[in-house]
Amino acid sequence: MKSAEIREAFLRFFEEKGHTRVASSSLIPANDPTLLFTNAGMNQFKDCFLGLEKRAYTRATSSQKCVRAGGKHNDLENVGYTARHHTFFEMLGNFSFGDYFKRDAIAYAWEFLTSPAWLNLPKERLWVTVYASDDEAYDIWTRDVGVPAERMVRIGDNKGAPYASDNFWAMGDTGPCGPCTEIFYDHGADIWGGPPGSPEEDGDRYIEIWNNVFMQFNRTADGVLHPLPAPSVDTGMGLERISAVLQHVHSNYEIDLFQHLLAASAEAIGCANEEQPSLKVVADHIRSCSFLIADGVLPSNEGRGYVLRRIVRRACRHGNKLGAKGAFFHRIVAALVEEMGQAFPELVQQQAHIERVLKTEEEQFAKTLDQGLRILEQDLAQLQGEQIPGEVVFKLYDTYGFPVDLTNDIARERGLTLDEAGFEREMEAQRERARAASAFGMDYNALVKVEGQTQFTGYLGTQGNGKVLALFREGLAVEQLKTGEEGVVVLDQTPFYAESGGQIGDCGYLQAEGLRFDVRDTSKAGGAVLHHGVLDGGVLRVGDTIEAVVDASVRQATALNHSATHLLHAALRQILGDHVQQKGSLVDSQRLRFDFSHYEAIRPEQIKALEDAVNEQVRLNTAVEIEETDIDTAKAKGAMALFGEKYGERVRVLSMGDGFSVELCGGTHVKRTGDIGLFKIVSEAGVASGVRRIEAMTGAAAFSYLNQADEQLKAAAQLVKSTRDNLIDKLTGLLERNRQLEKELEQVKAKAASAAGSDLAGSAIEVGGVKVLSARIEGADGKALLALVDQLKNKLGEAIILLGSELDGKVVLVAGVTAGLNARFKAGDLMRQAAAVVGGKGGGRPDMAQGGGVDVARLDEALALARTFAEQQA
Ligand code: ALA
Repeated sequence: MKSAEIREAFLRFFEEKGHTRVASSSLIPANDPTLLFTNAGMNQFKDCFLGLEKRAYTRATSSQKCVRAGGKHNDLENVGYTARHHTFFEMLGNFSFGDYFKRDAIAYAWEFLTSPAWLNLPKERLWVTVYASDDEAYDIWTRDVGVPAERMVRIGDNKGAPYASDNFWAMGDTGPCGPCTEIFYDHGADIWGGPPGSPEEDGDRYIEIWNNVFMQFNRTADGVLHPLPAPSVDTGMGLERISAVLQHVHSNYEIDLFQHLLAASAEAIGCANEEQPSLKVVADHIRSCSFLIADGVLPSNEGRGYVLRRIVRRACRHGNKLGAKGAFFHRIVAALVEEMGQAFPELVQQQAHIERVLKTEEEQFAKTLDQGLRILEQDLAQLQGEQIPGEVVFKLYDTYGFPVDLTNDIARERGLTLDEAGFEREMEAQRERARAASAFGMDYNALVKVEGQTQFTGYLGTQGNGKVLALFREGLAVEQLKTGEEGVVVLDQTPFYAESGGQIGDCGYLQAEGLRFDVRDTSKAGGAVLHHGVLDGGVLRVGDTIEAVVDASVRQATALNHSATHLLHAALRQILGDHVQQKGSLVDSQRLRFDFSHYEAIRPEQIKALEDAVNEQVRLNTAVEIEETDIDTAKAKGAMALFGEKYGERVRVLSMGDGFSVELCGGTHVKRTGDIGLFKIVSEAGVASGVRRIEAMTGAAAFSYLNQADEQLKAAAQLVKSTRDNLIDKLTGLLERNRQLEKELEQVKAKAASAAGSDLAGSAIEVGGVKVLSARIEGADGKALLALVDQLKNKLGEAIILLGSELDGKVVLVAGVTAGLNARFKAGDLMRQAAAVVGGKGGGRPDMAQGGGVDVARLDEALALARTFAEQQA
């Protein structure tokens, strides 16, 4: 069976068992600050397990994209060297949210694996582990399913702490968790390795293929396990591992999918396609890198972008090891698209973008490597002893992105070693700094946790009554808020829009007889809407009924910007091309900001075309149509879904301009496009490699922006005594006149200098038969002095001339000696002496030299040197 067929069989099996097929969520977890990347099928259902979110179904199945690099489940360093570790993999899963539990979960798993109608695996090759104290699961396996006791293994807390066990699964340090039962496949006696729990368990013979987690607890930061509202099931089976089993191979890299990628990698690198870890690293990494970029991550120096950068660099380095010349990594994307594009259309859509990002990153890393090598050479030249200090290794690694193992390779070639302990110390200090600075690993339960759900009524209006479900002060639930207290109010229903999809949260107030709560911002936690603000008067209690009033003018101004963002997005794709993907957006009442993938600055005529296209839609004044449907119907309509967004099973499709723009969106919008009034782009700039940002204004704000520009034009016209319409002509005339005046001024200056020159010529003296002239010309610059020296040479016949001036607090000097005297006198020599007197330097040719200094007080002394100079040489 091919991997694609196995994926489909799994999903179909569970559909037949009443599960809803749910699409993979983005690799960037939606609304979850505790997680770096999506690392398990259950991530998108976390709130369902915690009872914070209700869906139309209680059984689900999915094939989820996962990345395990960085964070709690990190496989990066193992990849390439084992048969089954990957940075990216697909996890097949079935889920029960308070529906079935251990018995059914186990029965389903067994049926799918062993039934002749499905995978038909030989039962005697399957081993099962359970959590040591989970007698219930043990009994189901042995009594109901009939797995013999000799192939059952109980695993306790084998990781050194309570619940730290291979058979107790947790998504992170906090959140949903529970005991699990794992199913292993025995690849046969010809492979080395022992059953789970044995000393040889790390061998490749017994491989875990399916983990069934019995989600029972929510772990809080204090380590306490709180029972979940309803026991649930979360399972995970790596598609690559089960494919290896069914394709009778012992390594994931031998399955159909990887064979293709390995061949493509070898071709791109230009090496033989044979068994070698570096080639596996490359074939593995192209998957995580491409999928991460498709989901909106870009290489950078922090957070997710930094992990991506590390993976790309690791791939480049292993490619180099295999002899790659130049950038090769991006050339493997095409093979990945062929292999996985059908199951993951985002790869097809974003192929060009992914290739470009990777190519840029590869080229940049090549430079980094060159630079790092130079720095290393410098450090090695000064090295005393046989060991490269830890600080040097760390500096190369941290500042120049120079991988430690590469430093190690070079050290080895020269018979040197690395100070590994010193490096580790630096790394630990760095990790400490990163931990302190990082938002990831935040305690999920420290966020305000609300049991209730708020119904959002704000699509229909901006006012309505609601009942207080919960109140919070400093993150803790309270029964009441008093005057002056800051806090959070949760209502059973509200017209307040909670920040999401780039649109800011509403502001306004909540009121009842004798009390008023100023709402400054609105956000979401699970299914609840949180009104953040301050109680201005009265006492607010849980259970009170109050009136909620949104600031309608702010809401409306925001709606204009939000709707215009959709039109801009569509116009960008029309004018710049389909590669344009939304990379982020921010919509408030003042303006809109839209980030998108594109590779060069947008030209002025393109800006104009964008404005024209959007304003045309505004003038067409079509009705904005909103339809609720399921995600597949929406996608079939061509609706643009955005990366990182979490869509429920019912989605809202927003269409404008008769199909001009169709997007999934939960935001608040105008009724007709004409409401936008006016659309004006105010800036365009690059924000990251391959990402541009446009800022724009609409409605009254756009109008006042244009008005302001108009006022400035008028003021400028007035200044030059013209009108707005004639301003350009007038300015052109003024500039021309200015140029003329400058020219005339130069001529006048030259004339004046020449007149001064005639006067000066008379003051030359004779020293030993040579004419010597030195003078101070106030205010003249170097150019004027040079001209003057030339003139004086003509007038005086043979002469030594030294002129100086004080200009802007500094001394300017020019010396000249006529050609006939050059055998004896050199202007450069005179200048060196004169400049030294005023604390500066100078020099030049024998006939003409320039210089200067800072000691203005000694200018006359310097000028007097002309005479001494002539005397000395006479
Ligand atoms: N969430 C479980 C895992 O990742 C199934 O292994």
